[in-house]
Amino acid sequence: MNNPQLNKHGELQHLLSTEGLPVRIMREILDRAATFMDEANGGEFKKVPLLHGKSVFNVFFENSTRTRTTFEIAAKKLSADVVNLNIGSSSTSKGETLLDTVDNLCAMHADMFVVRHSSSGAAHLIARHVAPEIHVINAGDGRHAHPTQALLDMYTIRHYKKEFHNLRVAIIGDILHSRVARSQIHALTTLGVPEVRVIAPKTLLPSHVEKLGVQVYHDMAQGLKDVDVVMTLRLQNERMQGALLPSAQEFFKYYGLTQERLALARPDAIVMHPGPMNRGVEIDSSVADGPQAVILPQVTFGVAVRMAVMSTLAGNTP
Ligand code: CP
Repeated sequence: MNNPQLNKHGELQHLLSTEGLPVRIMREILDRAATFMDEANGGEFKKVPLLHGKSVFNVFFENSTRTRTTFEIAAKKLSADVVNLNIGSSSTSKGETLLDTVDNLCAMHADMFVVRHSSSGAAHLIARHVAPEIHVINAGDGRHAHPTQALLDMYTIRHYKKEFHNLRVAIIGDILHSRVARSQIHALTTLGVPEVRVIAPKTLLPSHVEKLGVQVYHDMAQGLKDVDVVMTLRLQNERMQGALLPSAQEFFKYYGLTQERLALARPDAIVMHPGPMNRGVEIDSSVADGPQAVILPQVTFGVAVRMAVMSTLAGNTP
């Protein structure tokens, strides 16, 4: 089947999802990201001219702190010209369609779009619509995918754990509404993690989730036992329809990551969270700020991974 992310040479043309992304390309992105981090100099990012003369448009129809900002920093480190479209004050509010907005930005000579949208499939739609030489990066679409988040998570895991083939990874919380969880699961299984667990109440799991290659747990004590990596998720209240949970307090009581529960994982387990965190709902502050948390390094690695994605795309022709 035709892969909409790849060009005719099998190279990355757009980054839309980790589903169907070849392991070769995932590993190339992780390796390239490492070259942008000056580890010997405290993890400073190198400024390079790889996107000199190119225009990157950040088009975020949903709020963001980490993704939008790290894409901007990454594009500037690659010497691109960066335009952040302020959707709140754009003509979208006057009824302009998504594709008309994109056409107008293309007329301003956009070379690359970074798109976040509440509708699943928005980035795919734009990728199909634009001229072949323009690249599209999905920065989160509805509950579907958030591929650069998953790739920076893989970078983080590899940084701390070195290998993927010997790991047990647990993803906890609102799997049903989480584009991050879906992208993480595809990335983890593609990179060869042998045991990926999801821990959640039945109401927060997609039906047939085990078909994604994960083991399902409803009990934190069982699910966390001996894992190497713990990935927590926010309750995506903005995507919930109806009452799927009695309350946030009830969720914390059964599924909150506390120090007592974390002690069931391996002693050297790392704790990850894509952000934004809700302390006292999915994670206790003592864990979020504790020695096993790598939540802020995830953000830092996000700059390097986004530099890797954008420079890879810019190097590929249709
Ligand atoms: N992880 C993530 O996507 O965070 P933001 O919503 O702040 O971009």
